Amino acid sequence: MSLTRRTAIALTAAAPVITQAAARGIAKTSFGKVKSGQAVDLYKLTNSQGTEVTVITYGARVQSIRCADARGKMADITLGFDNIEGYQTENPYFGAVVGRYGNRIAKGKFSLGGKQYTLAKNNGENALHGGLKGFDKVLWTAKEVNGGIDLTYISKDGEEGYPGTLTTTVRYSLSDANELRIDYTATTDKVTVLNVTNHSYFNLAGEGSGDILGHRIQINADRFTPVDAGLIPTGELKPVAGTAFDFRQPHSIGERINANDEQIKLGKGYDHNYVLNGPMGTMRQIVRVVEPKSGRVLEVSTVEPGVQFYTGNFLDGTNKGKGGKVYGHRTGFCLETQHFPDSPNQPKFPTTQLEPGKTWKTATIYKMSTEKA
Ligand code: GLA
Repeated sequence: MSLTRRTAIALTAAAPVITQAAARGIAKTSFGKVKSGQAVDLYKLTNSQGTEVTVITYGARVQSIRCADARGKMADITLGFDNIEGYQTENPYFGAVVGRYGNRIAKGKFSLGGKQYTLAKNNGENALHGGLKGFDKVLWTAKEVNGGIDLTYISKDGEEGYPGTLTTTVRYSLSDANELRIDYTATTDKVTVLNVTNHSYFNLAGEGSGDILGHRIQINADRFTPVDAGLIPTGELKPVAGTAFDFRQPHSIGERINANDEQIKLGKGYDHNYVLNGPMGTMRQIVRVVEPKSGRVLEVSTVEPGVQFYTGNFLDGTNKGKGGKVYGHRTGFCLETQHFPDSPNQPKFPTTQLEPGKTWKTATIYKMSTEKA
């Protein structure tokens, strides 16, 4: 995408005939104010196909993704709220960037460089998704860049218990091939750990249209990380072969979600990290999801070693989302590309450590398309 909001406006003024080119680009509007009075902005990215992605500066959240189904009908395929008040109510990270550490750290403790660090416990005895006020609940500074929008947040040394001043930038860009690409970079001034990801909930039939059990999913992973009762990995990398976790061939999400399987019971459905095939650090397609009625397809590529496949098992209708729709049990699924949960306490897992002078970089692409419905 090459047109920024300003150039799009300039083009409209100079040559109003180019309506399609004028619509394509980035537009900024106000999204209200957080309780403390600071302004929140919304950026709308539009591509030549008319696909629209909106992102807000509160929590660097993906607020909506509107794209066509196989018959050309547009719908918003992500769960969320119409206004900032919604996002400030208790909600399970709708669309958010989660950090500093996506998923759980056992007992909210780890040691690094000979020092013990203690985090807030916000999930039983464990730390989850960055703590009490994680990256999902802070305001990010936005900057339009050629081809996208950069959101930056500087997390202070000691924030939520984590060492080092951590400067994180998340770039959202939308290609004309319907790829929503998320690039993440981070630097620190002290050795630290991090695992930043995006927690969008998808429903390819349209948000608020019912459960996601009929979606068919394929995950390119031979192994997953089984968990204990607190959803902390046991350390084992378990083959998916012969289990309800085997999605190497496409299966509907609902087919085995209530299987008589210890791991399914612990997760109350799927809430597990998959060990992705192919070399980490290399962009490779690892997930494909199809919603048969609409024909919408979502393909996920990442350089990360893992993905948390979460089927909205904790959604219980408490959250009234866009248009007042009730988000009930399993009405959205997440594909949180990531390093494995609890890596700071699991020496055999790929490291999540970042040293001063180095730049942490990762990227994930969510590509929307359709196939015959
Ligand atoms: C992640 C976790 C789940 C749950 C959701 C948010 O996917 O693994 O257990 O905490 O986030 O509700």
